[in-house]
Amino acid sequence: MRKPWYFWLYVRSPITKILLGMLAVLISFAALAAQGMFENKRMEAQTDNWHGRSVEKGAEIFSSNCYTCHGVDGKGLPGVAPALHSRYFFTQRMKDVGWAGSLHDYIALTVAAGRPSKSKSQWSQVMPTWSSKYGGPMRDDQVEQVTQFVLNWQEDALTQDWGTPAITSTTGVSGTGGVTGTTVTPMVNLDPFQPFHDGPSKAPTNTITYTVGTLGAAAVGTTAALSATLPQSAEAAAPAGPRPPQELYTAMACSGCHKIDQDQTPDNQGQPGPNQGNLHETAATRVSGEDAETYVYNSIVNPSAFVVPGYPDGIMPKDFKTKMSEEEIRSLVKWILDPNRPK
Ligand code: HEC
Ligand code: HEC
Repeated sequence: MRKPWYFWLYVRSPITKILLGMLAVLISFAALAAQGMFENKRMEAQTDNWHGRSVEKGAEIFSSNCYTCHGVDGKGLPGVAPALHSRYFFTQRMKDVGWAGSLHDYIALTVAAGRPSKSKSQWSQVMPTWSSKYGGPMRDDQVEQVTQFVLNWQEDALTQDWGTPAITSTTGVSGTGGVTGTTVTPMVNLDPFQPFHDGPSKAPTNTITYTVGTLGAAAVGTTAALSATLPQSAEAAAPAGPRPPQELYTAMACSGCHKIDQDQTPDNQGQPGPNQGNLHETAATRVSGEDAETYVYNSIVNPSAFVVPGYPDGIMPKDFKTKMSEEEIRSLVKWILDPNRPK
């Protein structure tokens, strides 16, 4: 009988059969492994995708719930609420508060529970409670999303430059004041994005040591010049005379919420607080019986007395009367209402 053309498929030797069998098994393993590799890639892509989406959702949550206090870009509003988009927050904050867990958990817990009972805070606002578990408005997945969004700032925050120390020189001052030498120790950990004062790492900011001589007029002058360049807590800053209005406008964080160089118009109202470029035209029309100066004065010392339509009450801090002298508030009012105010 003639052998069919596929005769070579008949394997007679048992050894060859075993070898072929093993080869088959090996090939299927290889196929599985290859698929596994692709599967990993696919899963990774899926996770990235999920992560990306949750950061996106977190961004929406942040821009509707958090920016009024922490700033549009998360860099904080001076005196209102701390920066989260800051190198200090990502590198030092955990150590300062003695938190042993992860940064993720620190953020998630702070957002969920808030810090509603914190007294004697340096911030004019209180961190609200957000999780529905504690009576707030957010679901757990939303707390997680906004946490992911905050964590997403890390890479950029780590590139922030804290700058070189403001003063490093040793100056010799001699003369009538009796000061013969002044050494100014450079500040440590001056993070312009994070003016938190309660952490140990923040304690030794602006140490000014005079090594030689007694303090006279010249030295006092030097100290005053220094204070002007260093961000300081309100207590430490108590200056002798009234501060000029344009300085107050930034120091009191008015500029964080209001734009003084833009007019309030129907399509440019201003956020989070109304624009103030044309306040000198609108102020007198807000509350009947109050002229422009009275209205602006009252708006500063008692923001809830009249709430500008379209804006929520409670965002503008209510304690400006305790942070500025009467004279300072009056001069600030005049300055805001001055139509010829230099831009
Ligand atoms: C009404 C103002 C306000 C709002 C709105 C607000 N926060 Fe806060 N937040 C604060 C204040 C004030 C602190 C600092 C509390 C303190 O003194 O410990 C703070 C602290 C934090 C901290 C801890 C910071 C640190 O360094 O310890 C995180 C994280 C945070 N907020 C996230 C958020 C997120 C996310 C939202 C939006 C869902 C939000 N906050 C909305 C006022 C606010
Ligand atoms: C955290 C944000 C925030 C800060 C800081 C803030 N404001 Fe406001 N301000 C608002 C908001 C929001 C409104 C509108 C709601 C209202 O009337 O209370 C407002 C309203 C006003 C008004 C009334 C404006 C109008 O168009 O009728 C004046 C005046 C004013 N602020 C002045 C100031 C001054 C001066 C400072 C600094 C000393 C300051 N604000 C700081 C948020 C802020």
